Amino acid sequence: MNILVTGGAGYIGTHTCIALLEAGYSVIVADNLSNSKRESLEKIKTITNKEVLFYEIDVTNTQAVEEIFQQNSIDGVIHFAGLKSVGESVEKPFMYYQNNLVCTLVLINACLKYDVRRFVFSSSATVYGGNHVPFVETMNFSQTSNPYGETKAMCERILTDITNANPSFTVTLLRYFNPVGAHNSGLIGEAPNGIPNNLMPYVTQVAKGKQEYLNIFGNDYPTIDGTGVRDYIHVMDLAEGHVAALNTVTAGVHIYNLGTGQGTSVLQLIKIFEEVNGIVIRFKITDRRQGDIASCFADVSKARKELDWIAKRDLETMCKDAWRFEQNYNHQVM
Ligand code: NAD
Ligand code: WQD
Repeated sequence: MNILVTGGAGYIGTHTCIALLEAGYSVIVADNLSNSKRESLEKIKTITNKEVLFYEIDVTNTQAVEEIFQQNSIDGVIHFAGLKSVGESVEKPFMYYQNNLVCTLVLINACLKYDVRRFVFSSSATVYGGNHVPFVETMNFSQTSNPYGETKAMCERILTDITNANPSFTVTLLRYFNPVGAHNSGLIGEAPNGIPNNLMPYVTQVAKGKQEYLNIFGNDYPTIDGTGVRDYIHVMDLAEGHVAALNTVTAGVHIYNLGTGQGTSVLQLIKIFEEVNGIVIRFKITDRRQGDIASCFADVSKARKELDWIAKRDLETMCKDAWRFEQNYNHQVM
């Protein structure tokens, strides 16, 4: 089966390409390389010994997307392509709505036109907003706290409406919690441009000496030690969740949390990172970051039951794999 992976050169996309190739799928990647590098696709070949077919296109370009559907027999789409920085979305909301909504609309249009019925969408735990933890798929949400989160909530609604009007369409909305870590080869991983926004890449850059110390955003939350609690999931577990979603879907809209179900504080994560890698992470406690919530973790029972999927890799593995990739990665060259 041929799977079109938009955003397949990115962090989660590359790991998912590996999981798909290992599960026997053929992979076609569409990416404009706005937040990724062509070299990542070569690394996929090194790891799997299999080729992906690559189209360097912008997914907002209807004609370019349709050409892929004309030239290939596509069986399903996994749609990762999108902008993902919460802070940038507050500064440039138009860019986020334009890119993330138009990509999704262009792809839906192509799927309907070329009778491709399987669609898997990258959503986010951010859609749950201020609900109580653990987050369950049935929870209502009205408004998320930033334009990025709104694009995810809007795409979920668009895909739901389209499926209601086209009952043979099969849509899986995967709400990721906090993906971290890297493929255990150390060849691919998360390599943000500039100063990282997210915790794990910041920690690995402190470990490498690229950043002097970590700012911990607040230690007065109502959590185990006052620092923010999140549900960190190994990116390869997340990738395998996509394969499970493709393997088991039936017509209609299906929503799944992809997390571990376990909350970990910033201080707990740092301690595990230090222990497994034998490195001290310098940090300072600073003010809370605007928009952060105290705790975010998943109820994962639905994915376990319906997808027969569960995250297998522990925090120790996440920390080791993230550090292995950071040590291999040359920020100047790639
Ligand atoms: P990423 O930035 O590494 O990957 C996204 C890829 O999409 C990049 O390769 C980028 O070049 C490409 N892209 C962006 N706009 C495009 C366009 N118009 N046309 C073609 N390609 C385009 O991000 P990621 O962490 O791999 O995230 C993948 C998806 O998962 C995103 O939709 C993101 O919002 C979602 N998500 C990520 C996280 C996370 O913490 N990483 C959490 C929840 C959801
Ligand atoms: C984790 C914890 C911070 C950095 C974001 C998006 C979310 C999703 C995943 C896409 C929090 C603390 C962080 C630092 C710190 N992405 N922290 N110092 O905010 O849970 O989620 O990425 O959908 O939408 O909002 O992840 O890694 O930024 O933060 O103390 O330098 O680490 O306060 O408690 P977050 P994160």
